This record gives sequence, structure tokens and C-alpha cells, in this order.
Amino acid sequence: MARKVAVLVGSLRKGSFTREVATAIAELAPKELAFEQLEIGDLPLYNQDLDTATPPPAWQRLRERVREHDAVLFATPEYNRSVPGVLKNAIDVGSRPYGKSAWAGKPAAVVSVAPGSIGAFGANHHLRQMLVFLDMPVLQQPEMYITAADKLFDAAGKLASDTTRELFARFGAAFARWIERNAQAR
Ligand code: FNR
Repeated sequence: MARKVAVLVGSLRKGSFTREVATAIAELAPKELAFEQLEIGDLPLYNQDLDTATPPPAWQRLRERVREHDAVLFATPEYNRSVPGVLKNAIDVGSRPYGKSAWAGKPAAVVSVAPGSIGAFGANHHLRQMLVFLDMPVLQQPEMYITAADKLFDAAGKLASDTTRELFARFGAAFARWIERNAQAR
């Protein structure tokens, strides 16, 4: 049976390179992984006062959708050397109410994406710091710092280089093995 992977993309921009990378990774991954990008752009900012028995419906939707998945792929750009607020907000929403985090125990992987040459290293590692606290076992290798993201795709939206295609396929295969190794009893 296919393992369901929730994909959180930390950019809301229509032409997001990060979203393109996340989509390409899903296409090149082993068929036993079924990827689905979750909507995070409509989540009200986390406010503990609203986290009552009837929280905002968009929060409930995200928490339920995450629970339905076996694993999570976080694809993040870098904003000011860290994770964009929209992704941090989604992580905060999914982590509450206290003791009922939707993230706990789910195998995860991180890919960080930037047009520049550092590959959003800062965002990647700030995210990894959060995932430790959230008790999500995170794939260690291959690390994915995607540089020159504005040059990865040709005009038709296809990956321009075989090297990148191979890297994405290797990452997907490693993530599939990681998910099996850390699969939760469901
Ligand atoms: C950026 N960008 C950026 N890039 C980077 O490598 N390190 C950084 O710290 C920042 N900081 C930053 C802050 C803000 C508010 C914006 C809007 C942008 C540039 C960023 O990498 C670029 O806009 C990417 O194209 C964003 O990713 P998507 O939207 O293409 O997925």
C-alpha cells in the first residue's frame, strides 16, 4: 500500500521555485509514495485564545489532513535566513493543542530552495531545529540545499539537468526507505 506524504510548501507565490522543486521530487519519487501538497495559505495566524473546542475551521482541516498522512515533506524557501512565516504558522497550528500535536512521530524530510548559492541553508536548519522539538524523525542524507533555483527548470517547466533529476530521485528513494524504517503503527 502506498505511503501518503503530506507536502508543506513555504511559499504562496504562484511561480514559486520551491513548489516546482517539491512537485518534481514527487514526480521522481518511487511509486510507493503518494504525495499531496496541503494548503497552508489560508490558516489564520496562530492565537492560543482561539484554540478552544471550536477552533478556526482551517486549523482543524490542517490538523486532520496531517493526521491522514504517514509522513511529511517540508519544502522551504529562505526569508531573512529563516523559515517564512507562513510555514512557521502552519507548524505552530499543527502542533497544538498541547499534547495533541499532529506532527508527533511522523517521519519527515526537508528540502530548502533558493535562487542564491547558499541553498537556504539557514531556513533548512531552523526547520530541523523545530522538527527535533516536534519529535519528527528527519531524514539526514542526502541533505537538500537547492541552489540556483531560478535556473533549474526550462521554459516548459521540466528539469533542465540530468544531475538534478538524479539527485531528486535519490532523495525520494532515501525518503521512501526512511518512511518504512520509521513507520508508525496505524
Ligand atoms: C527573500 N529571499 C532570500 N533568499 C535567500 O537565499 N536568503 C534569504 O534570507 C532571503 N530572504 C528573503 C526575504 C523575503 C521577505 C523574500 C520575499 C525573499 C529571496 C528568495 O530566496 C526568493 O524570493 C525565492 O524565489 C523565494 O522562494 P519561492 O517563492 O520562489 O519558492
